[in-house]
Amino acid sequence: MKNSKIAIIGGGNLGVAITEGLIKSGFISPTRITVTRRNIDSLKSLQASGVNITSNNKEAVQNSDVIIVALKPYNVKEVLESLKESFQPSKHIIISVVTGVLLKDLGSIVNTGVPIFRAMPNTAIAIQESVTCLCHQGASKEQVNYVTELFSQLGISINIDEKLMDAATVLGACGIAYALRFIRASTQGGIEIGFDAKTANLIAAQTVKGAAELLLKLNRHPEEEIDKVTTPKGCTIAGLNEMEHQGFSSSLIKGICTSYEKIGK
Ligand SMILES: NC(=O)c1ccc[n+]([C@@H]2O[C@H](COP(=O)([O-])OP(=O)(O)OC[C@H]3O[C@@H](n4cnc5c(N)ncnc54)[C@H](OP(=O)(O)O)[C@@H]3O)[C@@H](O)[C@H]2O)c1
Repeated sequence: MKNSKIAIIGGGNLGVAITEGLIKSGFISPTRITVTRRNIDSLKSLQASGVNITSNNKEAVQNSDVIIVALKPYNVKEVLESLKESFQPSKHIIISVVTGVLLKDLGSIVNTGVPIFRAMPNTAIAIQESVTCLCHQGASKEQVNYVTELFSQLGISINIDEKLMDAATVLGACGIAYALRFIRASTQGGIEIGFDAKTANLIAAQTVKGAAELLLKLNRHPEEEIDKVTTPKGCTIAGLNEMEHQGFSSSLIKGICTSYEKIGK
């Protein structure tokens, strides 16, 4: 599948971020990618880097093997229905990054037996630092490997059961906002203890990046790393315990559960 051509139907924020990431990573040559949207003027910079741009979805599907659907949920039914005659099970795979549209619903719209994947990335895909959760129906092992590899160019990818897709949306996609609010609050604290906003923001952001890298690169448990910086009777443990008395961990867990309840409605 290495020589597959990719069509991205819906060249908005996510569609363009995926395209740019795939080109930067060298996974595919720009000339093997086609990106569609109705107003193609905003895709001119992609065109300049060699990507094919068009507003003709049918032509894009016919000339490609891997079809990434990056439309808003309310556009999916109409657009995929208009394309269903063009999908061929022996040629195509469909990857939907659309939030909340189930594999069975995608399958019944296209009604062709084409292998279908759902992918849930987050906005860090723009810098190839996403975590992308994947699930699929009707795909071969080779196709699963290909799609896993494709999203691994854009961060890391994890295969999950579809029933966990809402949980993946909350923890991974909404999670970006929770992490950013943590950084924003740290910045505000940093200003109160003496830094200007810009420096406080830089220190807070790099500190979060470093903490995450300790877990990801050294495979450490968070508490193991916390123990290293909490000197007995020291300032870290005093601050950390005060945060916990104020409900730090509990508010995060409750927020995640609230987002999850909301997404299910
Ligand atoms: N942004 C994220 O981080 C993120 C993360 C996970 C999942 N998602 C999901 O990804 C999907 C896309 O999100 P987004 O933020 O990229 O939205 P977006 O910027 O609005 O992109 C959607 C694009 O679809 C195009 N479009 C609409 N009708 C079309 C048609 N008939 N043919 C071809 N293109 C058409 C629109 O352009 P025209 O109006 O010019 O046609 C628009 O550029 C959503 O379902 C969202 O839930 C997003």
